[in-house]
Amino acid sequence: MDFSVVCGSLTEQPSDVLIVNLFQGVKSPGGGTGAVDKALNGMISELIKDDDFEGKLGEIAVIRLSGQIPVKKALLVGLGKSESFGLSEVMRASAAAARKCRELKAENVTSILHGGGIAGLPAFGCAKAVVQGAILGAYEYTRFKTEDGKANPIRSFTIVEMDADKLPEIERGMRLAEVIGDCVVWARDVINEPSNFVNPPHLAKLAQEIAGEYKFGCKILDRKAIEKAGMGLIAAVSRGSEIEPRFIELKYDAPGASKTVAIVGKGVTFDAGGYSLKSGDGMYGMKDDMSGAGAVLAAMRAVGKLKPNVNVIALVPAVENLIGARAIHPGDIFKSYNGKTVEVANTDAEGRLILADAVAYAKDQGVDEIIDLATLTGACVTALGRQISGLFCTKDELAESLIRGGAASGETIWRMPIFEDYRESLKSDVADIKNTGSREGGAINGALFIKDFVGDVAWAHLDLASATIDKDIDLAKKGATGAGAGMLIEYFISL
Ligand code: BES
Ligand code: MN
Ligand code: ZN
Repeated sequence: MDFSVVCGSLTEQPSDVLIVNLFQGVKSPGGGTGAVDKALNGMISELIKDDDFEGKLGEIAVIRLSGQIPVKKALLVGLGKSESFGLSEVMRASAAAARKCRELKAENVTSILHGGGIAGLPAFGCAKAVVQGAILGAYEYTRFKTEDGKANPIRSFTIVEMDADKLPEIERGMRLAEVIGDCVVWARDVINEPSNFVNPPHLAKLAQEIAGEYKFGCKILDRKAIEKAGMGLIAAVSRGSEIEPRFIELKYDAPGASKTVAIVGKGVTFDAGGYSLKSGDGMYGMKDDMSGAGAVLAAMRAVGKLKPNVNVIALVPAVENLIGARAIHPGDIFKSYNGKTVEVANTDAEGRLILADAVAYAKDQGVDEIIDLATLTGACVTALGRQISGLFCTKDELAESLIRGGAASGETIWRMPIFEDYRESLKSDVADIKNTGSREGGAINGALFIKDFVGDVAWAHLDLASATIDKDIDLAKKGATGAGAGMLIEYFISL
């Protein structure tokens, strides 16, 4: 999709589909949509009068035209209630409209700047939300669909704006949205790829490619090197698989930056549970257990393009969690990177094991903040559902920035409590700590385990309940959402 902006009137720009909008409850359209309505002799007003269109957020009506303007179809998208309207709604409306344009096989799309006429919504933000929404809404994972017509037909997406003064800001918003949108759909592609393609060496290869393209430092440890480095937990989890683990490190140095942030992504390319084996139903979908890794690698691509003013170290412990002749057993004890001994009470709580080594390594590098992203617990999904991720954070300012960054990217993030009293259930009779506690409060217990390896570094842990979704929503098709990627890059550019 090529994005551009032209100065002119919506009724004069030729296209296959022209996107206009309407607030819920509005009887006669104004602004750009009003001008289009006039040129169409009131066709839009008629839809509203006949109760064929309410204007609910994401609602769509398609009007086939016959030469009134140089456009084949007009697409009316609902903006919802004007009281609850903001940039998130702009993004959702644009996503819903772009999805429909793809279904309609439109090649050339023109769009009104949703929110452009609303006081308090700057053109930059509106353009960013329109373009990012279009990228996210039109996304589909099609690699293994062999029938014709799988490709996204939308070639050009053009914002039409009357006010020439706004053009530079619109252009700027569009360019940023392209980078962030591409970053998120790149994450979706990697996460949606099945585990017979995406395994630990494959993640390492992707990291190397990113490092090559953006001149990042890059270190990849194989099984031997992981053992030698003392990452006993990553080594332990990987033992059930013949496919080797990898410990991936990418390093971006910003000239003159004073702050260094480590981002750590859980890279379990398939989670069968190990000998604490998952059920068949519970195992399906566990190719997505590397969603944290996908978000972290995607964010590094955007870091390479946007060059934010902060040093970033990206870490991905990558393993498969399987059963096998050499796989670990419940009750086994291993030594972590920082020397603590861990009893593996449940081999299916593998994410926190590999993250423990990785965050302890991050702390060793002397970073200022550690942000880990992981599909860590089913409990978090039970608590929040699949459209919200849970954030555990030891520093309020960091938590607020991450929640804000997520929102700017269409992600909903909810802060969860780090309740130290629950740590008791992680006590082991035989080792320093065990990897599971009480089933109740499962997401909190998982966070408490990781926290034990972070020490006193400022830390955020995103339990990615929203990594994948089981139905289509405006901003994502069923499958991977890329959650966390946008949050990270928005955070970095805010520094
Ligand atoms: N990858 C899973 C968590 C998960 C499950 C995320 C379903 C999203 C959907 C993780 O490795 C896991 O198996 N966690 C266990 C922890 C338990 C053994 C303490 C879980 O949630 O059941
Ligand atoms: Mn597991
Ligand atoms: Zn897992």
